[in-house]
Amino acid sequence: MPQLPLPQSLAGSTVVVAGGSSGIGLAAGVLLRTVGARVVVVARDEAKLAAAVEKLAAAGPDANQAVVGRTADACDEDELRRALEPFDAIDHVMVTAGTLIMGPLTEIDRKAGSIVVDSRLWAAYSAARVTESRLPEGGSLTFVSGDFVRRPVPGTALAAAGLGAIEALTRGLAVELAPRRIRVNSIRAGGTDTPLIRSFLGHGADPTSESADAAIAAMGAASPFGRLGTAQEVAAAALFLMANPYVTGSILAVDGGQTLA
Ligand SMILES: NC(=O)c1ccc[n+]([C@@H]2O[C@H](COP(=O)([O-])OP(=O)(O)OC[C@H]3O[C@@H](n4cnc5c(N)ncnc54)[C@H](OP(=O)(O)O)[C@@H]3O)[C@@H](O)[C@H]2O)c1
Repeated sequence: MPQLPLPQSLAGSTVVVAGGSSGIGLAAGVLLRTVGARVVVVARDEAKLAAAVEKLAAAGPDANQAVVGRTADACDEDELRRALEPFDAIDHVMVTAGTLIMGPLTEIDRKAGSIVVDSRLWAAYSAARVTESRLPEGGSLTFVSGDFVRRPVPGTALAAAGLGAIEALTRGLAVELAPRRIRVNSIRAGGTDTPLIRSFLGHGADPTSESADAAIAAMGAASPFGRLGTAQEVAAAALFLMANPYVTGSILAVDGGQTLA
């Protein structure tokens, strides 16, 4: 009997999460562990990575065998290739690595702003190049885009361009890899309560402080559901995209209707 296209079918599969030590990627790792998947987490900061591995190990079965942390800059194809070399079989890949910079045209020049495009585009592209030969029929790549593509606000033009590049890459690779039945999709996340967004709203203050909580609440209040999304709510979409073998080239919005307002 064919596998059901439900997240439970991911049990026993190996999933690489590039950017899995924080926010949406970490939440995806926890959900994947909950359904019995093995998780390979890639990120740059060793201490944060170690803490994430500990958290993921506790979130599912076979704690000692099912979670591996690898330190690498996902934008650096050679580094990523070395980090993932030990894994012969990879079933699915999620890339959440990406840096955000916001500011007006007059203040962000190409040098300062290139990271917002480079970080996410080359991480996604490198992850695709490094893993494609190991992905099986039905395997997948999942990237993360954002609402700024649909609803930019002043100061987000470059961020929107970087996120838009991810959506274009998604559709292009989906066509290219379809003959091998490898799928490529993106989640278009709305404003989501993660350390990344907190570091912006808290203006450099402690991201767990009450003022950061208040800033998060204020930002969410303007949206149709009156709050931002959680990392887990966005991450759940990744499991759907990995598990359903008939979904490819899709940009799945998880934004509580933020682009409607
Ligand atoms: N939160 C939102 O509201 C929102 C909305 C739309 C889109 N997004 C996008 O969704 C993605 C995830 O966001 P998030 O809020 O979960 O961010 P986050 O909490 O800052 O997590 C980002 C993760 O990516 C890793 N990372 C960053 N650059 C990397 C690189 N070059 N190589 C390897 N790992 C790297 C970080 O660890 P290290 O720094 O240790 O490497 C961390 O584990 C980002 O691309 C973001 O732009 C977020």
